[in-house]
Order: sequence, then structure tokens, then C-alpha cells
Amino acid sequence: MKIFLDSADYKKIAEYAQTGLIDGVTINPSLLKAQQESPLKIVREIVRVLPEAEINLQVTEHEPHKVYEQARVIARLTDTMVVKIPCCAQYLPVIAQLIQEDIPVNVTLVFSLSQALEVAKLGVNYISVFIGRLFDNGIDGLEIASSVQEMLDTYSYESELLVASIRTKEQVEGSILLGADAITMPPEVFNELVDHPLSQAGIEKFSEDWQQGPHNDLLG
Ligand code: E4P
Repeated sequence: MKIFLDSADYKKIAEYAQTGLIDGVTINPSLLKAQQESPLKIVREIVRVLPEAEINLQVTEHEPHKVYEQARVIARLTDTMVVKIPCCAQYLPVIAQLIQEDIPVNVTLVFSLSQALEVAKLGVNYISVFIGRLFDNGIDGLEIASSVQEMLDTYSYESELLVASIRTKEQVEGSILLGADAITMPPEVFNELVDHPLSQAGIEKFSEDWQQGPHNDLLG
């Protein structure tokens, strides 16, 4: 399973890069707004610490022909760029064209199985299902994500399900169980994954017992 960080904070991304677990980064206009830094600088800094990671950067234009031009500019920034395009009928021809030109595309803001089917048929690289926003609206996001994964498997589409808009560790675990190809999560959620109160309690108990045990020249 690929793990992406959902962040434009390149200093934080540099910290998490050291875990060796980060396969990519997803960036959207809201995450850029939070940073107030040049997007170009952000991309360069990410490439410096994660040279092989996929950088999913979203278009900001609206007119289809401008979205197409901007997507081509984004794709040329580095050879690890993936262009995020919002799921919307007017962008389908743009997406089809970009795929034909071998430009990696991540269709973002996907909320339903039928949206996912259409973009899978176009051969996009990633389908970003926003499960947190579905849950915010009283819909079981994991169920929608699971149906998308099943559809991809049933018809052997090459697109990968990218579970996005993650809010909790439980949503990460649900995404693992449904067999998602990839997940993107904010650094705060990533932090919660490896620590467990019982692991911490175990570390403390072992340390206490070691202090009281027989010391020798092997373990100090
Ligand atoms: C994914 O690519 C998006 O950047 C992200 O997951 C959006 O999540 P949000 O609903 O927390 O804004």
C-alpha cells in the first residue's frame, strides 16, 4: 500500500521523509493557502528530501483549455509529478488528452462509484475518494471507497484507488482492510499510526525490569 502525506508543509514533509515510509505527497489549494509559500519552492523542497516520491499537485485553473495547459506545465516540473484534476464532466476530454500524452493524472474530489467508473475507464493513475468529507455529510465513506476498489478489481482497470480526506486512524485501518492501493493522510494522523499505549507501557516495564536485572558485558 502506498502512503502519501497530505500536506504542503515541506519542513514537516522533510521530517517524515526520514521514516522511509512516504511514497508521495498530495497538495491542494487549501494546503497551499495554509503555507503561504511559493508552490514552486514547495515542490523543489519536497523533491530535495523525497527525490523519488510522487508529487500530486492540483490545477487551479477552471476553463478546460486552461486546465489542460496548466496540467502540462505542472507535469514538466519534475519527472515525479502527478497532476490532480477535479472530477467534473467538463474536464473529461482534458483528462483523456493528458492520459494520451502519458501525463500521470490523479482525479480528485471523487465521491461516488459512478464518478470513479468514468475516470477509471479513461485510465487515470489515481482516483481520490474523499472519505472524510463523505463521513462529514453522513455517508459511509469507507463503503464508497470499498465499492470503488471492488469495481477496479472486477473490471481489471489499471487506475489505483487513493483513499483521501482521512481524519482518523480508524479510517486508515478501514482503508487497509478494503485493500486500497494508496492512502493519503495528514501528518497528525500518520503520527498516530505506530504508537500504541500498550507498546509504550511495555517499553517502560522492560526498561524498569532491566534496571533491576543482572547486568553483563553483552547488553551493558
Ligand atoms: C487529497 O488529495 C486531498 O488533498 C485531501 O485528502 C483533502 O482532504 P480534506 O477533506 O481534509 O480537505
